[in-house]
Amino acid sequence: MSPVTNARLLFREIPSELPDPVSTFKYDTSENIDIDGFPLHGGFLVRALAFSLDPYMRNRMRPEDTEGDMPAFLLNKVITGFGVGVVIRSESPDFLVGAHVGGFMSYQEYCFFGDAAASALAMPALGLTVLENPYNLPWRYFVGNLGMTGQTAYYALKDVSEPQKGETIFISAAAGAVGLMLVQLAVSQGLRVIASCGSDAKAGLLRELGAAHVINRKTDDIFVELKKAGPIDIFIDHVGGITLEAAIENAAMHARFVICGAVSTYNGPMSDAYGVKNLWLVNRYRITIRPLVVIDWHEKYLSEFYKTVPEEIAAGRLKCYESVYRGLQSAGQGFKDMLTGASTGKTVIVISEE
Ligand SMILES: NC(=O)c1ccc[n+]([C@@H]2O[C@H](COP(=O)([O-])OP(=O)(O)OC[C@H]3O[C@@H](n4cnc5c(N)ncnc54)[C@H](OP(=O)(O)O)[C@@H]3O)[C@@H](O)[C@H]2O)c1
Repeated sequence: MSPVTNARLLFREIPSELPDPVSTFKYDTSENIDIDGFPLHGGFLVRALAFSLDPYMRNRMRPEDTEGDMPAFLLNKVITGFGVGVVIRSESPDFLVGAHVGGFMSYQEYCFFGDAAASALAMPALGLTVLENPYNLPWRYFVGNLGMTGQTAYYALKDVSEPQKGETIFISAAAGAVGLMLVQLAVSQGLRVIASCGSDAKAGLLRELGAAHVINRKTDDIFVELKKAGPIDIFIDHVGGITLEAAIENAAMHARFVICGAVSTYNGPMSDAYGVKNLWLVNRYRITIRPLVVIDWHEKYLSEFYKTVPEEIAAGRLKCYESVYRGLQSAGQGFKDMLTGASTGKTVIVISEE
């Protein structure tokens, strides 16, 4: 077979505010790959099926020499993140031809791995693993509800928030990727859900899923709404800023607040972020504030996650909501839509279904 195009997604420009669909990334088709003749040297070649678009990637769009949560994207280099693919050639005994794999990958159609950790930024939890799919679910789910996104939602209702049936949980960005799974899990575990989101259509969906009180962050006064619907026993925060301030004001005694994300602050310097003014109330209401970093909980809960969640999805008890973009050329628009709330549920780039 003659060489084929290996389309890639390059990081072109550091955005100062919201990433621009055209200038932040470059869809590059200048490289070819000889799939059959490519020397493997003991490694394996993966054909990509789907890639994840996640808010944490915004933090990677910064100058290389500045500190951040994860290593910065390098200018004019292929970006990396969570992907899923299928092994098409292999000299590795652990990654056989036909195996489906998931983990950190370069965002390109064909990806060579010298070993499983090739794109993992020296973080073992991000290395490539072989995926089991006993219910024959779409492979793209492994970057969404069956991947890091779903794991975050699942772990949020464990030790970190100590939920008790009947308690009131407030979930911000509730119609996003983590949020929609979390709302469903919380309802199914007998929690009373307050949810915030950015449109009436999303609010309708959240009500259908069983949220008791829904707040449209763009049209409602979040302080007034939380006063009506609270007090809050558990807050899973994806947003930070004024939403966090309003949640603190409406906390129940001994509330547990879980800081999962702060998307309202991602598009500018931290010095410009909204300053929460009422931290003293953490003391008055005896609020426990805890971080949630998904990889910290894999050891305790990852195998339980894979024993329960795929079956729930296959049985239709847990629904996967997605905004699907086709091809790496759509990643810029997908990323902007995800970050601004124009998309609903998990934002995923599909290269191929199989
Ligand atoms: N700690 C971890 O291990 C971990 C893992 C996964 C995700 N996270 C974090 O969890 C959060 C959600 O991630 P996700 O993948 O599920 O993303 P997502 O919710 O699908 O996308 C982000 C959403 O945030 C909302 N938003 C955007 N700007 C906002 C603003 N200024 N104020 C309030 N809401 C705003 C938008 O929804 P609406 O317009 O509907 O409000 C947008 O769709 C992010 O903060 C992410 O960094 C953390």
